[in-house]
Amino acid sequence: MIAATRNSGIAPLGDMPWGTHACLFYETKQDAFDTLIPYFQAGLQSRECCVWAVTDPIGEEEARAELMRSIPNAGPNLTDGAIEILPGEEWYMDGVAQGMEAIVRGWHEKLARAIAAGYEGLRISGNAFWLQTGQWAAFAEYEQMLDRSLTGQPMIVLCTYPLDQSRAAEVLDVARAHEFTLARRHGQWERIETPELKQAKREIQRLKAELEERVIERTAELAAANARLEAEYSEREQVEAVLEEAKVALYRRVRLTTVGVLAASIAHEINQPLAGIVTNSEASLRWLTNEEPDLDQVRAGLGRIARDANRAADVIKRIRALVAGRIEHAKFDINEALGETAALMKATLQAHQVEVQLVLGAGLPPVVGDKVQLQQAIINLVTNAAESMVNAAGPREIIIGTSLAEGGGPMVTIEDRGRGLSPEASDHMFEPFFTTKEKGMGLGLSIARTVVEAHGGSVSASPSPLGGTVFRFTIPGASP
Ligand SMILES: Nc1ncnc2c1ncn2[C@@H]1O[C@H](COP(=O)(O)OP(=O)(O)O)[C@@H](O)[C@H]1O
Ligand SMILES: [Mg+2]
Repeated sequence: MIAATRNSGIAPLGDMPWGTHACLFYETKQDAFDTLIPYFQAGLQSRECCVWAVTDPIGEEEARAELMRSIPNAGPNLTDGAIEILPGEEWYMDGVAQGMEAIVRGWHEKLARAIAAGYEGLRISGNAFWLQTGQWAAFAEYEQMLDRSLTGQPMIVLCTYPLDQSRAAEVLDVARAHEFTLARRHGQWERIETPELKQAKREIQRLKAELEERVIERTAELAAANARLEAEYSEREQVEAVLEEAKVALYRRVRLTTVGVLAASIAHEINQPLAGIVTNSEASLRWLTNEEPDLDQVRAGLGRIARDANRAADVIKRIRALVAGRIEHAKFDINEALGETAALMKATLQAHQVEVQLVLGAGLPPVVGDKVQLQQAIINLVTNAAESMVNAAGPREIIIGTSLAEGGGPMVTIEDRGRGLSPEASDHMFEPFFTTKEKGMGLGLSIARTVVEAHGGSVSASPSPLGGTVFRFTIPGASP
């Protein structure tokens, strides 16, 4: 691998990249040798091909002697072309005759040959003092052309000028044409910087300062953001604590509400059989006080009273089981359960002049669960259906149907010819305590839904083609 920077061999220059174009003013011949000998020696050590274009006041023989004296291996290097001493005047004058770019081209041809011979690049020293005074425009043109041609090339150029032969204006012109300008005067180094270089350095300095400022700014911003995050975090912890407290309070409220709902639902469910008992006992009394007491009717009425009383007892038993967390798990036939429910409600419904029609599907799978609970749900739906028709002018009819739902379980529908659902009821009717009735408790539907869902099913309502509402629920079927 070829190194990216080259050792210049000149202390104030140090390492320099390929393409460097530097310039040296020297006071005495010794000053020139003090610079050029280490310059070439470093080039030879870095496997570069070196070319020394020698011009007045330094002669070719003098240069050769100086090399031989100072560099141990100079002899063989001179013979095999690792270092070449070029009669500068001839070299440049040939170029001038053919135009400025011919000289630049000449250097590049030497570079190509050096690369072909296995050198890493070309290291040159020369000067343009062969130009006559008054030809400075041509000189500047040459130096600029050379400067441009060096970009990206493995070539280093050091132009050397005797100070005693240069006028101040010329020194400035020469300096301006180079990236680096050095002066060696009586053994001392001086470094001359062109305005462009100074400007560039100042610009770099400014950018660096700006960058540092930005880094400081960003660091401060980051610290602020970090502090904000920490504050947010602790705020969030506080909010979470408050939320936790609210949650506990809410649980307490929910428990209280549940107890309230339970108390109300006990009353609700006991009211049903009680109403049946009252209706039946009134009827029985009427039948007894008739001129010809209808004892068969009375007997049937008393039977219904006993049944309703048993049912109330059953409900209480179930509620106690429910409170204790016990739920029956028995397999039963849904059609049978519906038949029983309809029979149970017959008297009450008749009192409201409501007809019940059962349209039961065949081949339904049994269901597993709590039959009394499910019957309670059905009673609630049927009661609502009956109540929806209280002021109906037309026929008061409820159709209770069963069929096979898509999921394979039974579907139960309870359809009425009532006044239909108000929009508000559609949205809220399943919520506990929602009612549109003067004496309603608003628990029937919420209980029905709880029961159906506890059996793994779901309940919904929609307008019925009969003009009223149809409630339907499905529950999963069990294997027979
Ligand atoms: N079949 C129905 N037809 C019309 N509206 C109904 C029907 N069933 C329920 N609703 C509406 O839903 C509300 C809630 O019913 P429910 O929970 O049983 O409580 P409640 O019967 O005590 O009002 C009723 O007040 C009524 O507005
Ligand atoms: Mg109700």
